[in-house]
Amino acid sequence: MPRLQDKVAIITGGSGGIGAEATRMFTAEGASVVVADLDEDRGRELVRSVVESGGRAEFFRTDVTSSEDWDALIDFTRGTFQKLDVLINNAGISHLGMTDPTSLDGWNQLMNVNASSIFLGTNAAVPAMTEAGGGSIVNVSSVYGILGSHGHPGYNASKGAVRALTKATAVSQGSRGIRANSVHPGVMPPMRTGGTVDDRILELRAGFAKSTPLGRLGTSADVAGALLFLASDESSYITGAEIVIDGGLMAQ
Ligand SMILES: NC(=O)c1ccc[n+]([C@@H]2O[C@H](COP(=O)([O-])OP(=O)(O)OC[C@H]3O[C@@H](n4cnc5c(N)ncnc54)[C@H](O)[C@@H]3O)[C@@H](O)[C@H]2O)c1
Repeated sequence: MPRLQDKVAIITGGSGGIGAEATRMFTAEGASVVVADLDEDRGRELVRSVVESGGRAEFFRTDVTSSEDWDALIDFTRGTFQKLDVLINNAGISHLGMTDPTSLDGWNQLMNVNASSIFLGTNAAVPAMTEAGGGSIVNVSSVYGILGSHGHPGYNASKGAVRALTKATAVSQGSRGIRANSVHPGVMPPMRTGGTVDDRILELRAGFAKSTPLGRLGTSADVAGALLFLASDESSYITGAEIVIDGGLMAQ
């Protein structure tokens, strides 16, 4: 039986690297997926290719920082696929494309898109999941939500907030049958929304690959595989957990 048979999932940031890979995997495993993203062109193209290969997916333009957009997204999902079982809070931005990530503006932007969005999404999804008899929320954090790093405090803090919010959700929603877990990708190919990648960043990443026990950077599929497991009933007794997907970087 497909691993996500009859599940209905929302994947935020579904037009991007990890989100698009998760959309392909989830639909191949029987889920109906709503791709929720600001990037309409890529999102609609992805949905077209999924539907062409026999999957069920829809695109819904969503700004995850807007509570009105969240309400509309949940209404759309229930109207189209009748229920909501899985929410993958994956949309996010990095400090790389910002003029000054250490300014208050930079901090606010990172906290808003990476952390407050998940607070809004969780609040919007819980009533629909409760009606469905339970659900799974998976929040995409980062190893930099656990570790500190130089020069981008807002990224660290926003991803740390995601980690703690996930545990708060697991504790407060467990009695409704709603699970919440976080995933923490390590160093991967740069995020598409991360701005220009200069030689210094490429050099840094090559260094990370060398110092990672598995000897390579991560891929979108590495992360999407963990999202699939946490979305499925295979993880039905796992809540409040964090899965680090970093090739062993943090184990050292
Ligand atoms: N790539 C990495 O190295 C890496 C490492 C650790 C964690 N992560 C996390 O993984 C997640 C996905 O990253 P990715 O590498 O696929 O990046 P990506 O830039 O390819 O995709 C992010 C997607 O989020 C969307 N998005 C941004 N702001 C939005 C908003 N306000 N509303 C709706 N959609 C919005 C973008 O349009 C984009 O499609 C992010 O949360 C990121 O922080 C990535």
